Amino acid sequence: MSRAPVGVIGTGYVGLVTAAGFAELGSEVWCVDVDEAKIAALRAGQIPIHEPGLEEVVAEQRDRLHFSTDLGPALEHARLLLVAVGTPPTYSGDADLSAVLAVVDSLPASDRHALVMKSTVPVGTGTTVRRLLADQGKGELAYVSCPEFLREGSALRDFRHPDRVVIGDDGGWAGDAVAELYAPLGAPAIRTDVSSAEMVKLASNAFLATKISFINEIANVCEETGADVVEVARGMGLDGRIGSSFLHAGLGFGGSCFPKDVSALKQLAGNSGYHFQLLGAVIEVNELQKRRVVAKLEKHLGHLVGRRIALLGVAFKPDTDDMREASSLVLSARLLAEGARVHAYDPVAEERARELMPGVEFSQTALDALAGADAAVLVTEWPELVGLDWSRAAEAMGGSLVVDGRNALDPGAVRAAGLTYEGIGRP
Ligand code: UDX
Repeated sequence: MSRAPVGVIGTGYVGLVTAAGFAELGSEVWCVDVDEAKIAALRAGQIPIHEPGLEEVVAEQRDRLHFSTDLGPALEHARLLLVAVGTPPTYSGDADLSAVLAVVDSLPASDRHALVMKSTVPVGTGTTVRRLLADQGKGELAYVSCPEFLREGSALRDFRHPDRVVIGDDGGWAGDAVAELYAPLGAPAIRTDVSSAEMVKLASNAFLATKISFINEIANVCEETGADVVEVARGMGLDGRIGSSFLHAGLGFGGSCFPKDVSALKQLAGNSGYHFQLLGAVIEVNELQKRRVVAKLEKHLGHLVGRRIALLGVAFKPDTDDMREASSLVLSARLLAEGARVHAYDPVAEERARELMPGVEFSQTALDALAGADAAVLVTEWPELVGLDWSRAAEAMGGSLVVDGRNALDPGAVRAAGLTYEGIGRP
């Protein structure tokens, strides 16, 4: 059976993975982006982001994937236009919708096309967009909210195996067409109104971020009381009402979604006159969590002036080169401000990190970064770093302190190498 062709506007993380995923399911996919260099690279088979498996799928599906800076081919071939453009935060904490609105402006009047919003947008955006379309004489264009839940580093797997597909529309052909598009994935479809679909996305991310800040606070109390947060999370997680995922204490959450979406939801509530107290605390806990490592280092090293600190990993999480809101940014800046000499190693994020972390010396290997270091901090739990040979690390280091910022190391293996282990919320 032939599958409906789709247009994908915006070839960032979500757009590119979604395009590759639908191509794999058998659709012709017409990708559009305003960035000419990016489109030229994609046409040449070059993938601008590090995402496991993506390059291979794009190569396999190259006959079905079409890239253009022009909206024309997508409009000609596809009825569903999936919008996956960026919605970064503004200074006020609101989402910047200029890219979404530029897409709206660029569309012609049509009763055979639908805008399918994959970008994370504030609740009410669907209403605003439909009002705009009507004002521009394009009210026949259908609108569907279909938020995306994929995670970086496991984006293709998340596309192929979604927990649910949320489809918000106000009746008409487009919602059913989107449901049909996703049907082969076999996930439960949540059919609802546009505003509720928009809220599902923001509330889900805010809830997961809350879970992380919660376990980070438990970890901080564990440090004062002698309990081990890893054991505590294991014991809590087996309660089916709690669940074990997103209970991993560490240096706080980063990335392109959680920090932005928590702020956006708090801001959205505030704009409508409601003070969302809980989310204020979630953000504050997360900010403090990145900085607590400095106190841990000072506890062992005294002052940090002239001390050499090795940051192992700088990406906001493993399997990505994304540096957006990475905990390493705040941590390295704090360390430099305390007078430390900061060395760093990351298997893929170095290029992006370099310009964001002035004053930090990058090394080509973990052992080079560790050479002469007074302390090492595991910032990103890359398998390569978790599996480091700690005897060799101990030989390379000048001091003996290892701060495991992700509770990902085997404390026994670190201690067996003669090093001092400090986790987050561990005795
Ligand atoms: C997140 C959502 O999970 C995804 O559904 C949404 O579409 C986009 O935002 P992502 O940002 O790619 O995905 O990564 P995720 O794996 O969720 O991790 C986010 C951050 O939380 C990372 O910095 C990670 O280190 C941190 N984290 C995650 C914890 O500190 N503890 C945990 O238990 C889980």
